[in-house]
Amino acid sequence: MNTDLLRAQTPACNDLIHFNNAGAALSPQPVNDALFQHLLLEQRIGGYEAGDATQAAQENFYHAFGRLLNCNAREIAYIENATRAWTLLLQAMPLTHGDRIITGQSEYASNYMTLLHLAKTRHIRIEVIPNDSSGRICLETLHDKIDEDVRLIALTHVPSQSGVIHPAVEVGKIARKHRIFYLLDACQSAGQVDLDVDQIGCDMLTGSGRKYLRGPRGTGFMYIRQSTQDYLEPPSIDLHSASWTRKDSYTLRDDARRFENWEHYVAGKIALGVAVDYACDLGMSAIETRVRSLAARLRSTLRQLPGISVHEDGEHLSGIVTFSAEGQEAAATQQRLREHQINTSVAKRQTNLLDFSKRKLSDVNRASVHYYNTEAEIDAFCQVLSAQ
Ligand SMILES: Cc1ncc(COP(=O)(O)O)c(C=O)c1O
Repeated sequence: MNTDLLRAQTPACNDLIHFNNAGAALSPQPVNDALFQHLLLEQRIGGYEAGDATQAAQENFYHAFGRLLNCNAREIAYIENATRAWTLLLQAMPLTHGDRIITGQSEYASNYMTLLHLAKTRHIRIEVIPNDSSGRICLETLHDKIDEDVRLIALTHVPSQSGVIHPAVEVGKIARKHRIFYLLDACQSAGQVDLDVDQIGCDMLTGSGRKYLRGPRGTGFMYIRQSTQDYLEPPSIDLHSASWTRKDSYTLRDDARRFENWEHYVAGKIALGVAVDYACDLGMSAIETRVRSLAARLRSTLRQLPGISVHEDGEHLSGIVTFSAEGQEAAATQQRLREHQINTSVAKRQTNLLDFSKRKLSDVNRASVHYYNTEAEIDAFCQVLSAQ
């Protein structure tokens, strides 16, 4: 990987250390160019006319994701964010009174609250599988909890509040064996982990554009396996997701785009397609290796700092590193780092209630590295932290 070139295409690298890639990564220049060009075209010739003139670039979105996830372009839909994609799919599931959904301890607030909403409105039951001592979902317990009422496994691949990578492939094997639907939240893994939906064995997968994929804010996607599509009833339709064929009937589109809206952020869709191509051209396997190696270095350097505790350990770790500084609120640490032009974020207990209660943690600091970060930035970051 040519880090100098990658950083030259990421101009903010000159001014700051961006360790908030799990929040929103910095977009590379080709992504920004695609975004701005489309907005300028809309300004110059009109929104609908710009839409007509960029059909191929819009279509590229689906092919780019097909390449990223190893699926067909017809299995991809453009959705405005990961939460919307997750919610739409859950609402579309054929679930009735007494059905059970299995989920994990690491679920993000919006994901889990959508399950609670389903429990309230459709009387489904939620089963939370705890993590094992490595911080990953306990496969043995998962296996034991399966019975004929379980209709869905809905799981986050890489949590927002810890560095673990859950064993998505092993969970997929269990789901397939028992013929249970499997929905994977790849919001934090897409763009940093090499994803192959066939290998994972998921029926549905969701994510957003602005995180490790380095796309624009306000963009996201969903994948729905072709064979699963007809089991799902979109909670709402419009003249894009369906055709009004007779006075009193309509026909749904025969691809994943039946979950899309006619009106959408066209510039964002084109630019996210460019971001995905950018990642695929670099190679997801090379990206994964580089991110893991930077994160391992960050963890080991942090562990040597007095008064700093790192909250994750083990083999299967992502680019997300969480830590606490003794005697300092997470928000204060984040603010001090920002004063040194270092971007990090705070993983709040309130947005990860199940996990934080089990791990007896309050808000923690989160530094999330990407391939365009450097070893020198890690050293500078740790120096600032140790001087506080
Ligand atoms: C694991 C996980 N899932 C879902 C989401 C929600 O994504 P979005 O804000 O794009 O809806 C986040 C956001 O940080 C997340 O970390």
